[in-house]
Amino acid sequence: HRCWLPVCVILLIGPQVSSQVKVEGFKGDNVILPCTYIEKKEHKNVTIFWQTADDDTVYSIIDGKADLAKQYSQFINRTSMFSDEWTNGNFSLLLIDLHSTDSGSYSCFIPTEDILRQVELSVQGLFTTNSSVSLRGQNLSPFLFLLLSQMVYLL
Ligand SMILES: *[C@@H]1O[C@H](CO)[C@@H](O)[C@H](O)[C@H]1NC(C)=O
Ligand SMILES: *[C@@H]1O[C@H](CO)[C@@H](O)[C@H](O)[C@H]1NC(C)=O
Ligand SMILES: *[C@@H]1O[C@H](CO)[C@@H](O)[C@H](O)[C@H]1NC(C)=O
Ligand SMILES: *[C@@H]1O[C@H](CO)[C@@H](O)[C@H](O)[C@H]1NC(C)=O
Repeated sequence: HRCWLPVCVILLIGPQVSSQVKVEGFKGDNVILPCTYIEKKEHKNVTIFWQTADDDTVYSIIDGKADLAKQYSQFINRTSMFSDEWTNGNFSLLLIDLHSTDSGSYSCFIPTEDILRQVELSVQGLFTTNSSVSLRGQNLSPFLFLLLSQMVYLL
């Protein structure tokens, strides 16, 4: 049987893609990196560490209070969390004014619960002309699939 390429690609990469949280943003945008631990219990006195892949501190909550003493310089004044949501188990992080150097893997670690959530952030540069902007984000992948399938057809 011949396999229609775009379908094959989707079947092959589908499960892995859905098991990893990916967040995309453009330079200067604000994004929310999700981290939720929804349990039927109150999250008082929580300790959470948001870190980069290099173990730099992005945000810490220690015993229910924000602790930014060790925050890595790259993130100073650019993060916030939704403290009202903490009791609901929503420890998502808001990162504002994205820089291209923010791209990478982030982890949200809750030591007392042994919970580790990972988020892959990819920051893309903004094009200056309006015509390029229309290629933003999700519009691009169907286009690439089309292109790929056309190439296979030509071969
Ligand atoms: C919060 O937890 C710390 C240790 O993890 C403990 O020393 C402190 O008493 C706790 N605070 C409350 C209000 O439970
Ligand atoms: C962060 O904000 C404070 C208060 O607005 C300011 O004094 C400080 O210089 C800022 N730090 C950086 C690294 O932008
Ligand atoms: C967590 O809180 C943020 C900010 O209020 C919200 O945007 C997000 O949808 C919440 N996530 C969940 C799973 O409730
Ligand atoms: C780009 O689009 C915005 C609105 O979408 C418009 O205000 C602006 O004039 C456009 N710029 C150019 C160079 O076409």
